[in-house]
Amino acid sequence: MHTENTYEFGLVGLGVMGRNFILNVAENGFSAQGYDLMPEKAEALREEGVSIGKIAATSDLNEFVSSLSRPRKIMLLVPAGKIVDQVIEDLLPKLEEGDLLIDGGNSHFQDTDRREAYLKSKGIFFIGAGVSGGAEGARKGPSIMPGGAAEVYPHIQPIFEAVAAKYQGAPCVAYLGPGSAGNYVKMVHNGIEYGLMQLTVECYQLLAALGGLTNTALSEVFGRWNQGRLESFLIEISSVIFSQKDALETGDLIDKILDKAKQKGTGKWTSQNGMDLGIPVPTIDTAVSMRAMSALKTDRETADKMYEKPRRTLVEAAELESACEPAMYFAFVMTYAQGLHQLAEASREYGYGLNLATISEIWRAGCIIRARVLDDIATAYREQPELPHLLLSGAFVHTISACVPAARIVLQHAIGNGIPMPALAASLSYFDAFTTGRLPMNLIQAQRDYFGSHTYQRTDRDGIFHTEW
Ligand code: 6PG
Repeated sequence: MHTENTYEFGLVGLGVMGRNFILNVAENGFSAQGYDLMPEKAEALREEGVSIGKIAATSDLNEFVSSLSRPRKIMLLVPAGKIVDQVIEDLLPKLEEGDLLIDGGNSHFQDTDRREAYLKSKGIFFIGAGVSGGAEGARKGPSIMPGGAAEVYPHIQPIFEAVAAKYQGAPCVAYLGPGSAGNYVKMVHNGIEYGLMQLTVECYQLLAALGGLTNTALSEVFGRWNQGRLESFLIEISSVIFSQKDALETGDLIDKILDKAKQKGTGKWTSQNGMDLGIPVPTIDTAVSMRAMSALKTDRETADKMYEKPRRTLVEAAELESACEPAMYFAFVMTYAQGLHQLAEASREYGYGLNLATISEIWRAGCIIRARVLDDIATAYREQPELPHLLLSGAFVHTISACVPAARIVLQHAIGNGIPMPALAASLSYFDAFTTGRLPMNLIQAQRDYFGSHTYQRTDRDGIFHTEW
């Protein structure tokens, strides 16, 4: 069969994400060719694609490249890191000037900047596009966060808009900015994801340990929350998870899962870059630290036997549930606020020109951090595009103020009973600090000047001062 210049879209990497994404593309009417080094993966796609049509797959790179219409649009969905560079090197000699490569993986934004500059020198356009939504999202509609070569974005725009998740009819994809803007936004998306997940698990432990909630009851509570302002993908799936029976033993699956949470690094990158930018994202930092804490399983088990726990005072389940709901809502908003604050600063620092309203909008469906509250957040940024911080939007003052007392109560229960809720605590302290006009950092300045003559400024007059203490 003659296939030269036939296919509108090419995809490299036919793992679960790649296979699902290309099936989604074909189902939306675009002809697509998949490539994977492993013939069995190409074969699997061919089989799965039969009923859709418009789809082909090969493990022959020459055949793959020559089958694509020009300028070629080739998306890579391969593990982040060296493999992306390797695939680029393999493709480069076969590409022609004006072709477009799209990296859909969780690449570090600095790698994207490097690759874009490199490919530009070879006449190849590059788009770094964050793709969120896991395997199901890739198949049924992910949230897509593209950035990079603006001049060629229109080449891929119709495909992305067709395959993306829809929020009230609007596709959850938008060109976000030059260079690594797309990968940067996806990185912060994942940082927020870490924060929300950690908050969810803290509530789970409190409700189970102090409220005595069974998994069935937890499933119901999370299910109820998902009907209200906490409606979100992570709350929704948690409700389902609590009700999952174990297939291997009697009982609930959740109780059999080892409490060591793995990580691939995107949350850590968010924290690291938050530090570089000087933007506090303590809920995200804490979530990353708790994954590291979870890995210390053996030491935790030893220490568990060495130290006494406070005697626990049980709290009525209904009381705990009604305190946790506003506390969670509050902390969710704090997490989004921190991530968006980091995005605002990164936009200035890296010249991304990010539109925070658009970003909040394309996170409303398809992605892991989708949540009802993002619609309110998007509205706040639509109304005040230059808003320096979400907490400075009048839109949230009333709701957040009303939730804060519950967050304090939940933490009192947690601290008094020796239950760790560090992400909730970080969220509340973040709020308390951000809403405090005068922090005690005057003493830090005095100490720095005392031991290192680092100087300080005064509140009552201009200038730089030093004291011989
Ligand atoms: C998404 C997810 C996805 C991936 C995470 C997992 O948006 O679809 O964020 O990209 O599942 O990167 O991250 P960890 O393995 O670090 O938890």
